[in-house]
Amino acid sequence: MEGALTARDRVGIQDFVLLDTHTSETAFLGNLKKRFSEDLIYTYIGTLLVSVNPYKELDIYSKKQMDIYMGVNFFELPPHIYALADNAYHTMMAEANNHFILISGESGAGKTEASKKILQYYAVSCPSTTLLDSVRDRMLVSNPVLEAFGNAKTLKNDNSSRFGKYMDIQFDIQGDAVGGHILSYLLEKSRVVHQNHGERNFHIFYQLVEGGEEDLLHQLGLESNCQHYSYLVQDECANVTSINDKNDWKTVRNALSVIDFDESDIQHLFGIIASVLHLGNVQFEADSKGYATLNKNTELRWVSTLLGINVQVLQEGLTYRKIEAKTDEVLSPFTVDHAIYARNALAKAIYGRTFTWLVNKINDSMENKEPSRKTVIGLLDIYGFEVFYVNSFEQFCINYCNEKLQQLFIQLTLKSEQEEYEAEGIGWEPVQFFNNKIICDLVEEKHRGIISVLDEECLRPGEATDFTFLEKLEEKMGSHPHFITHKLSDKKIRKTLDRGDFRLLHYAGEVTYGVVGFIDKNNDMLYRNIKYVSLLLWSIIHVYLTDKLQFKSSLLGLTDILMSKEPWYVRCLKSNESKQPGRFDDVLVRHQVKYLGLMEHLRVRRAGFAYRRRYELFLQRYKPLCPATWPHWRGVAAEGVEVLVQHLGYLPDEYKMGRTKIFIRHPRTLFATEDAFEVCKHKLASRIQAQYKGYRQKGEFRRQKEAATKIETCWRGVQARKEKERRQWAVKVIKKFIKGYMTRGEAKTTDNSEYLAFVRQNYLNRLKDNLPKTVLDKISWLTPPPVLTEASAILRQLHMRVMVTRYVRGITAQQKAQLQLKGITSVIFKDKKDSYPQSVSQPFVDTRISEQDINMKILQIIRHERIKYSVPVVKYDRNGFKPRPRQLILTQTAAYVVDEAKIKQKVQYTTLKGVSVSTLSDSIIIFHIASEDVKQKGDLVIQCDHLFEVLTKLSVVANKQSAINVVQGSISFQIQAGKEGIVDFSSGQESMVYKDKNGHLMVVRTKTAQTYKDLL
Ligand SMILES: Nc1ncnc2c1ncn2[C@@H]1O[C@H](COP(=O)(O)OP(=O)(O)O)[C@@H](O)[C@H]1O
Ligand SMILES: [Mg+2]
Repeated sequence: MEGALTARDRVGIQDFVLLDTHTSETAFLGNLKKRFSEDLIYTYIGTLLVSVNPYKELDIYSKKQMDIYMGVNFFELPPHIYALADNAYHTMMAEANNHFILISGESGAGKTEASKKILQYYAVSCPSTTLLDSVRDRMLVSNPVLEAFGNAKTLKNDNSSRFGKYMDIQFDIQGDAVGGHILSYLLEKSRVVHQNHGERNFHIFYQLVEGGEEDLLHQLGLESNCQHYSYLVQDECANVTSINDKNDWKTVRNALSVIDFDESDIQHLFGIIASVLHLGNVQFEADSKGYATLNKNTELRWVSTLLGINVQVLQEGLTYRKIEAKTDEVLSPFTVDHAIYARNALAKAIYGRTFTWLVNKINDSMENKEPSRKTVIGLLDIYGFEVFYVNSFEQFCINYCNEKLQQLFIQLTLKSEQEEYEAEGIGWEPVQFFNNKIICDLVEEKHRGIISVLDEECLRPGEATDFTFLEKLEEKMGSHPHFITHKLSDKKIRKTLDRGDFRLLHYAGEVTYGVVGFIDKNNDMLYRNIKYVSLLLWSIIHVYLTDKLQFKSSLLGLTDILMSKEPWYVRCLKSNESKQPGRFDDVLVRHQVKYLGLMEHLRVRRAGFAYRRRYELFLQRYKPLCPATWPHWRGVAAEGVEVLVQHLGYLPDEYKMGRTKIFIRHPRTLFATEDAFEVCKHKLASRIQAQYKGYRQKGEFRRQKEAATKIETCWRGVQARKEKERRQWAVKVIKKFIKGYMTRGEAKTTDNSEYLAFVRQNYLNRLKDNLPKTVLDKISWLTPPPVLTEASAILRQLHMRVMVTRYVRGITAQQKAQLQLKGITSVIFKDKKDSYPQSVSQPFVDTRISEQDINMKILQIIRHERIKYSVPVVKYDRNGFKPRPRQLILTQTAAYVVDEAKIKQKVQYTTLKGVSVSTLSDSIIIFHIASEDVKQKGDLVIQCDHLFEVLTKLSVVANKQSAINVVQGSISFQIQAGKEGIVDFSSGQESMVYKDKNGHLMVVRTKTAQTYKDLL
């Protein structure tokens, strides 16, 4: 039902109980039709299964389908015959009791198919062992054999079962199908000798004739041609498209060997079948008195051979009646009609007995001889309610039988419903439905029923005929609402009835029976049992449901026993009369729905409450709808359900709480709940999804975090190890450094080599950046560490050279000349005269007095000697030492002291003995001149600010380098020949030159100048 709830909108409603307008036949049919159009042939009414014949193969019977339905709750999946079969099986296993599945419906509605499906389901789905497989195989293959012998094409059904069949399947305690038993009843033997228009004889005849091997046919004296046999050609429809006799023959032949038929059995069986065909061809002719004679008796011979009966005896039996009068036997000849009747009676009898034998044989092969306890599921496939154009005693019995089944059905369903209410402690409300008991009574009531009347009529003395029987019926039943005859009916109805007819208003509809033959058939022993078919039926059910081989004639008692069993119902409906797929004949179906009492059944099921479900199941399904019950209800289920429905707002009259189940009155209440559940399910799904996603995300996050931590830890470890290594390395390096430092003075060892290398490198690096920039920079050279003293000295030298080279390369010719001069100066004065160092940086010039500043006269006098250098000087007089400013002009040959235009003194270089200067920083120069001549002026004392320049020039021009002396202390000079003067030198506060008291020239010089050495 839960499955039905979810699927209800798509293809109608899967369970009629949930039909809101459950009293409307139209709604009922509408639902059936809607589903049928979608090939959904099964629909429930509670646990009853309604099946509509689709007349086409549906893909719903595969092994896969069986697996789907196995062990699943009845209501969870779409309705199916497998669901019913499975549920019966599981209930049987759980409760260890017997069950029967009652399949009903009119001819061609699908009863036999349904029973086959159930059988297949058990064969495939029950547990199995190899030992049991053979039992199963037999159960399955017995079917085509039975159908070959017991089924025939009728107008209603190409494969109509012409016998009633009850089959039980026995299960052992483990649920294995261990055995089976078939009971057949009421084989329609008349079909052997006569078929209505458009119908056929039993399939086996055609199968044998069409499919039988040549040898076999030869042995049986048959020809491979149905037209040849009068029992087969009556209705010229030997060939039916839906039937393939040749194939079926093979199936049957195979099946026979599976179910333990040996070759001689098979020989005999077909011998008998052939004998019936031969018998049908036996022709009688009338002699002169009108008695039957047998002329051409080849057919008879075949019958005799095949049955093993003396031809004579056979011939006699077919043409004479044996009358036993007291002690004598008198043979009375038959008329042709009588003879034919006898021949047909024989054929029917032979066939009937053969059928019984066959069933027994099948039963032997399926029998389970184990004495252990077994439970059974019975399958009752009776042939259903029949209405033909002409209905006879057989139809009367069959329809009565169906009437009884309906009665049983009503009682059982009503009872079970009522019992459920009682068990659940819920008040029972009476239900209105048609009870067919009145019709059953009409037929079976003692002394008053139709059967009693018939029996009485047969037994009473005097001439009894079918018509006197009819009169009796009219007498007794005249006023019965379900009984009508020609005489009893009004004008309108009378037209539809013959004089010899009576009409019964069965629960399934009106049936008109022709009274002809009733008395005969009731008397005939061959027919006798038919009357008791229903009794027989009860006995069958009874015997197999109670395991007692005790026949109880009391219907009441049997019904009681039956009612203690578990019945399951399959109601088969025909969708149309023409066996067409996809056609849904409303009128036809409506009729069947009506007479099968489906509406009544639904009403009974819906008497009070449309829906009921065990508290646990109800709670399990709907608990998400109430916060108090979701996700778990820990208390008693019933209380949980109460809380739940209160929460849902069920009104008090909409539901009732039973002992174990909740009952809901209207489907709409349930639908509303189900709709809420659908909505909630989605919400729940998204919540669960969200939770799950969150959970997944969290997990993912945790994993990532863990991973991150791990990586971090590893990384830190790596870092720490690196750091440690670095420190260890540093410690080692520092240690080495310290050790190196301490041993730096020692010879190179492993301990100090690195340190020394470092020191070297460090020194060289520093040196590189701090090299002296000029040649003159003699002090900024970095002090080398001891290891590098030597190298440093070399480098210093190298550097100096480089600088010098660079310097030298950079100087001009002029500078060069200057330097050469300076070099000369250096040779002469360096370390000798105090003022020399200051002079070094003073560049020399070509001349201190340009030629323009020299008097023209002078120039004219000395130009030819070429003037090399001129400088202003102060000349001290030899006597008195008076300072006189003069120009000193050096030419190629002589030095001139010039005062304006006068040459005061000319000193030939050749006469120049020497030149003296003091060691001090004064600028007095004394020219010593050789003179023997007294007239000649004496030595020259001058003061010149450019002392070094003038003397250097002089030494170069006059080549007098060696003549220049730096003299310590005073310097004497010749005032004139033979007369000597002295120049004293000293340093003092103030520079001055004066004539001292002793007559010496005193030259004082401030001591500002520093010595070159001081500068360094
Ligand atoms: N479930 C079904 N699926 C397909 N065809 C079916 C089904 N039930 C019945 N039929 C068809 O209807 C025919 C008659 O069914 P059958 O069971 O012999 O009827 P019944 O036994 O009620 O007289 C079958 O031969 C088959 O062609
Ligand atoms: Mg059938």
